[in-house]
This record gives sequence, C-alpha cells and structure tokens, in this order.
Amino acid sequence: MLVPLYSILILVILISAVSPGANDLHFYDGVSTADVIFGDVFFEILDPPELRYSYRIRPAKDFGTPFNESVKFLEAKLVPTVPLHSCSDIVNHDDIVGQIALSERGECSFVYKTAKAQQAGARAVIITESIDRWDDSLDHLIEMVDDKMELDVNIPAAFLLGRSGATILHTLRNLKKTYAVINLPINMTHVPFSKMNQPPWISWIL
Ligand SMILES: *[C@@H]1O[C@H](CO)[C@@H](O)[C@H](O)[C@H]1NC(C)=O
Ligand SMILES: *[C@@H]1O[C@H](CO)[C@@H](O)[C@H](O)[C@H]1NC(C)=O
Repeated sequence: MLVPLYSILILVILISAVSPGANDLHFYDGVSTADVIFGDVFFEILDPPELRYSYRIRPAKDFGTPFNESVKFLEAKLVPTVPLHSCSDIVNHDDIVGQIALSERGECSFVYKTAKAQQAGARAVIITESIDRWDDSLDHLIEMVDDKMELDVNIPAAFLLGRSGATILHTLRNLKKTYAVINLPINMTHVPFSKMNQPPWISWIL
C-alpha cells in the first residue's frame, strides 16, 4: 500500500512543479509548446553588460520579410528610434542605417513603424511594449498583422514580449547609451532552459 501512495505523491509533486511554467506560457488555443518556440526568435545583448541576456521576439505575422537564414546580425547595433514611436520621420537615421531599429508600440500601426524604420535605413525592426506601460498578461494577444495600408515593407519585423523592451529602453537611457550591441538570431533549439540566460525579470518564458 505504501508504494502506490508514494508514487501518487511523487506524481502530484511533479505535476505541481510543471504546471505553473506551462500555464505561464501564454499559449494560443490549440498551439503546442513546440509551435510557440518554433515561431519565436531569440537574440542576445552583448553590451551593455547590464542587459547581457537572451531575449525572445515574435516575428510579424503577415508583413515584412521572414526571419529566414538570410537574416543574420553579428554584433549589430540595436538603436532606439527618435522619436521612439517611429510614427514620423526618424531623425537619428545616421545611427540606424544598416542596423536594427528599436521602436515602441502605440500612436500608429506596426506596419507604419516598420515602413518608417526601413525608410531610415534599418535592416530590421523590433517593436517593444511602450516604455511607460507594459503588461505581461497581454502578451498572448499581441500578434503583429498587416493593417492593409498597402505599405511596401521588406525588412523583418518582430515584437519584443513583456517588460524586456521597457527595461532595455530604460537601461540605455540611464546609461546615456544610444544603442545596444546584439546578435540576432541565436540558436536556442537545443539549449536547455537552465542555460537560456533569460533576463531575471522574466519569470514566465518557458
Ligand atoms: C529570405 O527571405 C528573403 C525575403 O523574402 C528572400 O529574398 C531570401 O532569398 C530568403 N533567403 C533564404 C535563404 O531563404
Ligand atoms: C540550431 O542548432 C542545432 C544543433 O544544436 C542544429 O541542428 C540546427 O540546424 C540549428 N538551427 C539553425 C537555424 O541554425
């Protein structure tokens, strides 16, 4: 009798240990973990050291070009746009040309921001939650789709989930830095969770 009880106890412990992480994954209905990880892309910040972690981004669904094998940035600059919302002409285009633009959500559509970043010479754009507000609980609703503005966008675009974007923006601002140095993408396919070097403010990512 002792053995089955013991097994059940182990099972209960295992289930309770696994469930929180699983629930925190923000699944779409009917989408498997593999699909979620498969669709998302990771990049890492090399500098400043305060931000040296791996970050997860969600590629735009139906605009821009795909994050395929042609998209490879080594020690590229991730440059916050001026203005940050990227809804009008970007004034720091000299810093952005050939690099990756970082814009915040709001004021205009994702496609419009991407078009503006492209116009400024960016080779990719990452859009974050607004610097002044973020809400992890809304991440699962964020899917960047074309707003049918018929803009010709041909750089890759992605959304940086959760509070990472705001943290990156705040940290760069505090350090008076105009960019971070990043590698994009990084291959996480066979990297175990414990080795993923997630930012400490992310508690839910896998
Ligand atoms: C990646 O996508 C771009 C834009 O669609 C395309 O021009 C390029 O050929 C693709 N590269 C590979 C290796 O598939
Ligand atoms: C990622 O790394 C694994 C081996 O760890 C390799 O099989 C896979 O092809 C890599 N993927 C890319 C996109 O480089």
